Amino acid sequence: MKTNESLLAERIKHIPQGPFNTHPIFAVKAKGALVTDVEGKEYIDFAGGIGVANVGHCDEEVVRAVKDQADRYLHTCFHVVMYEPYVELAKKLNEITPGSFPKKTMFANSGAEAVENGIKIARHATGRPATIAFSDAFHGRTLLALSLTSKMKPYKFGFGPYAPEVYRMPYAYCYRCAFGLEYPSCELACAYYLREFFATHISAEQVAALIVEPVLGEGGFVVPPKEYFNIIRKICQDNGILFIADEVQTGFGRTARMFAVEHYDVVPDMILTAKSMAGGLPLSAITGRAEVMDHPQLGGLGGTFAGNPLACRAGLAVLEQFEKKNLLARGEKIGKKVIERFRGFQEKYPVVGDVRGLGAMVGMELVVDRQTKEPATALTKQLVTRCREKGLLMISAGTYSNIIRPLMPLVITDEQLDRGLEIIGDALDEFSKA
Ligand SMILES: Cc1ncc(COP(=O)(O)O)c(C=O)c1O
Repeated sequence: MKTNESLLAERIKHIPQGPFNTHPIFAVKAKGALVTDVEGKEYIDFAGGIGVANVGHCDEEVVRAVKDQADRYLHTCFHVVMYEPYVELAKKLNEITPGSFPKKTMFANSGAEAVENGIKIARHATGRPATIAFSDAFHGRTLLALSLTSKMKPYKFGFGPYAPEVYRMPYAYCYRCAFGLEYPSCELACAYYLREFFATHISAEQVAALIVEPVLGEGGFVVPPKEYFNIIRKICQDNGILFIADEVQTGFGRTARMFAVEHYDVVPDMILTAKSMAGGLPLSAITGRAEVMDHPQLGGLGGTFAGNPLACRAGLAVLEQFEKKNLLARGEKIGKKVIERFRGFQEKYPVVGDVRGLGAMVGMELVVDRQTKEPATALTKQLVTRCREKGLLMISAGTYSNIIRPLMPLVITDEQLDRGLEIIGDALDEFSKA
């Protein structure tokens, strides 16, 4: 029988170390919020394949749609022979994304590709070269997306030179405010700083787009104050800059709304989605104002596999399941329970420096010292390992990898959720006594 250890030895021999692995285990099965490894050990999944399994692993309807599609055709390339599922899903995304103006959607394969295409389209439509991104942002690993990503090690280190014309603003990270201020007495200085930024970093008339995550994903589940995006959006609008929401991680119900921007009452010019959109198949989308999306010339956009029919069918099934299973309401409930438990941990364990969240996107930031806020990077890693040993899969986040970011499937049962939270509590308890 193959064991995790024997497969790991093979993995090390044949695959470079660059593509990282959080847990030294190999899956044989995944269903709902459970993952089983090759040795038959079952885990509660608080990682969801990094936010891809919002409708649950192997959702029956998603699997059924994919199987049905597999019996028809796997690939014709949308640029050679078109197919209906691509058009159907694009139409649905145009309907459900915020904004009552005419929209158009095109598909790609990954979040990074959505980012690349989004910026290409924005440059073409505005005739401007520059993009503004944020500290602690994550937008992917291809060269332009990597240039927009903030974290140096391990993501950017050694991979330069980066794409030009990327300018970086501080994010509204209230726990670690770049301006040393406190909300609300700060009066949103970080948002209004954008105006000064035009004088000191890049002239507004050279900026095609501002790209921002409505809640930082990889950056540590950082939730900006409610006024933040409206201020930024308005400044962009006044200066002819396209406002792009990267909803790759926040999208598809993670924050208990389909898109996190809906919490902020802000309408982006373009929304980028991927991850949970196709329930585990590779698919991403760029949805935006029709006149912007139509700007690039015929043949200027595309990709061999972009909008693969299996993935589009899966995407349509995912949307149906959100409705049928009322997953947004479920996300709200999950989030309430998680934030309540995490706040309980914060009261009990000094290592929990901050707890924040929006819907089911709740983060817990671990620090060595609450005064200095020194990130507890090593302890976070130990906690993730200990939780796995106890049967819970988790991943960390943050520039200093000191934030716990649960991304459990929204179909998780109450029992599984309680058990997962209990495991985190037990592990924190062990460490507090060590
Ligand atoms: C906000 C955000 N944008 C883009 C990406 C890149 O997506 P992918 O890994 O599919 O290229 C990610 C991935 O974690 C992400 O969280």
